[in-house]
Amino acid sequence: MLEIKNLSKKYRGSNKKAIDNVNITIEDGDIYGFIGPNGAGKSTTIKCVVGILDFTDGEIIFDGESIKDNPINSKQKMAYVPDNPDLYEHLSGIGYLNFICDIYGVGNEKNELIHKYSGLFNIEKDLANPIKSYSHGMKQKIALIAAFIHKPKLLILDEPFVGLDPKATHDLKEILKELCQDGTMIFFSSHVLEIVEKFCNKIAIIKDGRIVASGKTEDVKGSGSLEDTFMDLFDEK
Ligand SMILES: Nc1ncnc2c1ncn2[C@@H]1O[C@H](COP(=O)(O)OP(=O)(O)OP(=O)(O)O)[C@@H](O)[C@H]1O
Ligand SMILES: [Mg+2]
Repeated sequence: MLEIKNLSKKYRGSNKKAIDNVNITIEDGDIYGFIGPNGAGKSTTIKCVVGILDFTDGEIIFDGESIKDNPINSKQKMAYVPDNPDLYEHLSGIGYLNFICDIYGVGNEKNELIHKYSGLFNIEKDLANPIKSYSHGMKQKIALIAAFIHKPKLLILDEPFVGLDPKATHDLKEILKELCQDGTMIFFSSHVLEIVEKFCNKIAIIKDGRIVASGKTEDVKGSGSLEDTFMDLFDEK
Protein backbone atom coordinates (compact mmCIF):
# COMPACT_ATOMS: atom_id res chain seq x y z
CA MET A 1 0.00 0.00 0.00
CA LEU A 2 1.07 3.58 -0.70
CA GLU A 3 -0.25 6.37 1.48
CA ILE A 4 0.38 9.97 0.51
CA LYS A 5 -0.58 11.92 3.62
CA ASN A 6 -1.09 15.69 3.84
CA LEU A 7 1.67 16.21 1.28
CA SER A 8 2.71 19.77 0.50
CA LYS A 9 5.55 21.09 -1.59
CA LYS A 10 6.72 24.63 -2.18
CA TYR A 11 9.50 25.09 -4.73
CA ARG A 12 12.43 27.22 -3.65
CA GLY A 13 11.89 30.84 -4.64
CA SER A 14 8.15 30.37 -5.08
CA ASN A 15 5.66 32.01 -2.71
CA LYS A 16 2.91 29.49 -3.52
CA LYS A 17 2.60 25.80 -2.73
CA ALA A 18 2.81 23.69 -5.90
CA ILE A 19 0.85 21.00 -4.05
CA ASP A 20 -1.13 21.57 -0.90
CA ASN A 21 -2.28 18.89 1.55
CA VAL A 22 -2.52 16.08 -0.99
CA ASN A 23 -3.96 12.80 0.31
CA ILE A 24 -4.05 9.69 -1.88
CA THR A 25 -4.11 6.03 -0.84
CA ILE A 26 -3.24 3.32 -3.33
CA GLU A 27 -3.92 -0.30 -2.42
CA ASP A 28 -2.88 -3.62 -3.90
CA GLY A 29 -4.86 -4.28 -7.05
CA ASP A 30 -5.39 -0.60 -7.85
CA ILE A 31 -4.82 0.98 -11.22
CA TYR A 32 -5.01 4.58 -10.05
CA GLY A 33 -5.39 7.48 -12.49
CA PHE A 34 -4.21 10.99 -11.65
CA ILE A 35 -5.72 13.80 -13.69
CA GLY A 36 -5.83 17.58 -13.66
CA PRO A 37 -4.94 20.53 -15.88
CA ASN A 38 -1.43 21.63 -16.86
CA GLY A 39 0.43 22.94 -13.83
CA ALA A 40 -2.02 21.42 -11.32
CA GLY A 41 0.66 19.44 -9.47
CA LYS A 42 0.63 15.90 -10.89
CA SER A 43 4.33 15.65 -11.72
CA THR A 44 5.29 17.37 -8.47
CA THR A 45 3.30 14.81 -6.44
CA ILE A 46 4.79 11.94 -8.43
CA LYS A 47 8.37 13.22 -8.03
CA CYS A 48 7.88 13.46 -4.25
CA VAL A 49 6.64 9.85 -4.14
CA VAL A 50 9.56 8.47 -6.13
CA GLY A 51 12.06 10.41 -4.03
CA ILE A 52 13.32 12.86 -6.66
CA LEU A 53 11.89 15.91 -4.86
CA ASP A 54 11.97 16.60 -1.17
CA PHE A 55 8.67 17.81 0.25
CA THR A 56 7.78 20.59 2.64
CA ASP A 57 5.11 18.89 4.77
CA GLY A 58 3.36 15.56 5.10
CA GLU A 59 4.54 12.00 4.73
CA ILE A 60 4.62 9.18 2.23
CA ILE A 61 4.28 5.66 3.57
CA PHE A 62 5.10 2.83 1.20
CA ASP A 63 4.85 -0.82 2.21
CA GLY A 64 4.59 0.13 5.88
CA GLU A 65 7.50 2.55 6.13
CA SER A 66 8.17 6.20 5.39
CA ILE A 67 10.05 6.62 2.12
CA LYS A 68 12.36 8.97 4.02
CA ASP A 69 13.35 6.29 6.56
CA ASN A 70 14.83 3.89 4.07
CA PRO A 71 14.88 5.49 0.63
CA ILE A 72 16.99 2.80 -1.05
CA ASN A 73 14.66 0.04 0.16
CA SER A 74 11.63 1.98 -1.14
CA LYS A 75 13.26 2.73 -4.49
CA GLN A 76 14.16 -0.94 -4.99
CA LYS A 77 10.45 -1.77 -4.91
CA MET A 78 9.32 1.08 -7.18
CA ALA A 79 9.61 1.87 -10.85
CA TYR A 80 9.09 5.32 -12.33
CA VAL A 81 8.80 6.45 -15.92
CA PRO A 82 8.92 10.25 -16.18
CA ASP A 83 7.01 12.23 -18.78
CA ASN A 84 10.23 12.76 -20.68
CA PRO A 85 12.55 9.85 -19.95
CA ASP A 86 16.23 10.70 -19.84
CA LEU A 87 18.03 7.57 -21.00
CA TYR A 88 21.73 6.89 -21.55
CA GLU A 89 21.64 7.74 -25.23
CA HIS A 90 25.03 6.27 -26.09
CA LEU A 91 23.97 2.82 -24.89
CA SER A 92 22.09 0.40 -27.12
CA GLY A 93 18.56 -0.54 -26.09
CA ILE A 94 19.74 -3.97 -25.00
CA GLY A 95 22.74 -2.44 -23.19
CA TYR A 96 20.40 -0.16 -21.24
CA LEU A 97 17.99 -2.97 -20.32
CA ASN A 98 20.88 -5.20 -19.20
CA PHE A 99 22.20 -2.32 -17.09
CA ILE A 100 18.80 -1.86 -15.40
CA CYS A 101 18.51 -5.63 -14.81
CA ASP A 102 21.95 -5.63 -13.17
CA ILE A 103 21.05 -2.71 -10.89
CA TYR A 104 17.83 -4.38 -9.73
CA GLY A 105 19.30 -7.87 -9.60
CA VAL A 106 16.99 -9.41 -12.20
CA GLY A 107 18.22 -12.99 -12.54
CA ASN A 108 17.37 -15.89 -14.77
CA GLU A 109 14.23 -14.37 -16.20
CA LYS A 110 16.07 -11.43 -17.74
CA ASN A 111 16.34 -12.62 -21.35
CA GLU A 112 12.83 -14.05 -21.36
CA LEU A 113 11.35 -10.76 -20.12
CA ILE A 114 13.37 -8.62 -22.54
CA HIS A 115 12.22 -10.87 -25.37
CA LYS A 116 8.59 -10.73 -24.20
CA TYR A 117 8.27 -6.97 -23.79
CA SER A 118 10.43 -5.88 -26.74
CA GLY A 119 8.51 -8.34 -28.93
CA LEU A 120 5.18 -6.98 -27.73
CA PHE A 121 6.31 -3.42 -28.35
CA ASN A 122 7.79 -4.38 -31.71
CA ILE A 123 11.26 -3.02 -31.00
CA GLU A 124 13.19 -6.29 -30.74
CA LYS A 125 14.96 -5.62 -34.03
CA ASP A 126 16.10 -2.19 -32.79
CA LEU A 127 17.61 -3.31 -29.49
CA ALA A 128 21.17 -3.47 -30.82
CA ASN A 129 21.06 0.16 -32.05
CA PRO A 130 22.05 3.13 -29.89
CA ILE A 131 19.20 4.82 -28.04
CA LYS A 132 20.15 8.15 -29.60
CA SER A 133 18.94 6.76 -32.94
CA TYR A 134 15.45 5.98 -31.52
CA SER A 135 12.25 7.95 -32.12
CA HIS A 136 10.39 9.48 -29.15
CA GLY A 137 7.98 6.53 -28.96
CA MET A 138 10.81 3.99 -29.16
CA LYS A 139 12.59 5.70 -26.24
CA GLN A 140 9.33 5.66 -24.31
CA LYS A 141 9.02 1.92 -24.94
CA ILE A 142 12.55 1.24 -23.66
CA ALA A 143 11.84 3.31 -20.53
CA LEU A 144 8.62 1.36 -19.96
CA ILE A 145 10.30 -2.03 -20.43
CA ALA A 146 13.04 -0.95 -18.00
CA ALA A 147 10.29 -0.22 -15.48
CA PHE A 148 8.39 -3.51 -15.96
CA ILE A 149 11.40 -5.75 -16.03
CA HIS A 150 12.23 -5.76 -12.34
CA LYS A 151 8.62 -6.46 -11.31
CA PRO A 152 8.14 -3.45 -9.01
CA LYS A 153 5.59 -3.46 -6.21
CA LEU A 154 4.63 0.07 -7.26
CA LEU A 155 4.75 1.35 -10.83
CA ILE A 156 4.48 5.12 -11.31
CA LEU A 157 4.07 6.55 -14.77
CA ASP A 158 3.88 10.24 -15.70
CA GLU A 159 1.78 10.56 -18.86
CA PRO A 160 2.75 7.14 -20.21
CA PHE A 161 0.53 7.23 -23.29
CA VAL A 162 2.06 10.35 -24.82
CA GLY A 163 3.89 9.47 -28.02
CA LEU A 164 2.79 5.83 -28.18
CA ASP A 165 1.10 4.57 -31.36
CA PRO A 166 -2.36 2.96 -31.07
CA LYS A 167 -1.06 -0.60 -30.93
CA ALA A 168 1.54 0.28 -28.29
CA THR A 169 -1.18 2.08 -26.30
CA HIS A 170 -3.28 -1.08 -26.43
CA ASP A 171 -0.32 -3.28 -25.50
CA LEU A 172 0.66 -1.01 -22.63
CA LYS A 173 -2.82 -1.33 -21.16
CA GLU A 174 -2.64 -5.12 -21.45
CA ILE A 175 0.78 -5.21 -19.79
CA LEU A 176 -0.41 -2.95 -16.96
CA LYS A 177 -3.42 -5.20 -16.36
CA GLU A 178 -1.15 -8.24 -16.22
CA LEU A 179 1.27 -6.53 -13.82
CA CYS A 180 -1.66 -5.47 -11.65
CA GLN A 181 -2.94 -9.06 -11.51
CA ASP A 182 0.55 -10.14 -10.45
CA GLY A 183 0.43 -7.72 -7.51
CA THR A 184 1.87 -4.43 -8.82
CA MET A 185 0.10 -1.22 -7.77
CA ILE A 186 -0.11 1.25 -10.65
CA PHE A 187 -0.34 5.03 -10.35
CA PHE A 188 -0.25 7.15 -13.49
CA SER A 189 -1.02 10.67 -14.61
CA SER A 190 -2.73 11.29 -17.90
CA HIS A 191 -4.64 13.84 -19.91
CA VAL A 192 -6.41 11.07 -21.85
CA LEU A 193 -9.67 10.96 -19.92
CA GLU A 194 -11.19 8.15 -22.02
CA ILE A 195 -8.37 5.82 -21.02
CA VAL A 196 -8.47 6.84 -17.36
CA GLU A 197 -12.25 6.43 -17.20
CA LYS A 198 -12.28 2.95 -18.74
CA PHE A 199 -9.05 1.63 -17.35
CA CYS A 200 -8.64 2.87 -13.76
CA ASN A 201 -10.58 1.54 -10.78
CA LYS A 202 -9.70 4.70 -8.83
CA ILE A 203 -9.05 8.30 -9.80
CA ALA A 204 -7.81 11.48 -8.14
CA ILE A 205 -8.40 14.91 -9.66
CA ILE A 206 -6.02 17.72 -8.73
CA LYS A 207 -6.66 21.42 -9.20
CA ASP A 208 -4.25 24.20 -8.22
CA GLY A 209 -2.30 21.77 -6.07
CA ARG A 210 -5.30 20.45 -4.15
CA ILE A 211 -7.20 17.18 -4.59
CA VAL A 212 -10.76 18.11 -5.51
CA ALA A 213 -12.12 14.58 -6.00
CA SER A 214 -10.75 11.09 -5.38
CA GLY A 215 -11.88 7.53 -4.91
CA LYS A 216 -13.55 4.84 -6.97
CA THR A 217 -13.98 5.75 -10.62
CA GLU A 218 -17.76 5.35 -10.55
CA ASP A 219 -18.04 7.63 -7.52
CA VAL A 220 -15.73 10.30 -8.93
CA LYS A 221 -17.45 10.50 -12.29
CA GLY A 222 -21.01 10.07 -11.03
CA SER A 223 -23.69 9.50 -13.63
CA GLY A 224 -22.02 11.38 -16.49
CA SER A 225 -18.70 10.84 -18.22
CA LEU A 226 -15.35 11.68 -16.65
CA GLU A 227 -15.01 14.44 -19.24
CA ASP A 228 -18.29 15.98 -17.98
CA THR A 229 -17.03 15.86 -14.40
CA PHE A 230 -13.71 17.38 -15.46
CA MET A 231 -15.38 20.18 -17.41
CA ASP A 232 -17.72 20.94 -14.50
CA LEU A 233 -14.74 21.24 -12.16
CA PHE A 234 -12.64 23.35 -14.47
CA ASP A 235 -15.18 25.52 -16.20
CA GLU A 236 -14.29 28.94 -14.76
CA LYS A 237 -17.49 30.59 -15.96
N1 LIG B 1 11.14 23.07 -10.83
C1 LIG B 1 10.15 23.91 -10.54
N2 LIG B 1 10.39 25.09 -9.92
C2 LIG B 1 9.39 25.94 -9.59
N3 LIG B 1 8.09 25.68 -9.81
C3 LIG B 1 7.79 24.50 -10.42
C4 LIG B 1 8.80 23.57 -10.82
N4 LIG B 1 8.19 22.50 -11.39
C5 LIG B 1 6.88 22.76 -11.36
N5 LIG B 1 6.63 23.95 -10.78
C6 LIG B 1 5.31 24.56 -10.56
O1 LIG B 1 4.55 23.66 -9.78
C7 LIG B 1 3.20 23.64 -10.22
C8 LIG B 1 2.80 22.23 -10.55
O2 LIG B 1 3.56 21.77 -11.66
P1 LIG B 1 3.56 20.26 -12.14
O3 LIG B 1 4.68 20.08 -13.09
O4 LIG B 1 3.50 19.39 -10.95
O5 LIG B 1 2.15 20.19 -12.91
P2 LIG B 1 1.47 19.01 -13.75
O6 LIG B 1 0.13 18.77 -13.15
O7 LIG B 1 2.39 17.87 -13.86
O8 LIG B 1 1.25 19.71 -15.17
P3 LIG B 1 1.32 19.11 -16.68
O9 LIG B 1 -0.02 18.53 -16.96
O10 LIG B 1 1.57 20.33 -17.51
O11 LIG B 1 2.44 18.12 -16.74
C9 LIG B 1 3.11 24.62 -11.39
O12 LIG B 1 2.64 25.85 -10.90
C10 LIG B 1 4.54 24.77 -11.84
O13 LIG B 1 4.78 26.06 -12.38
MG1 LIG C 1 3.37 16.97 -15.43
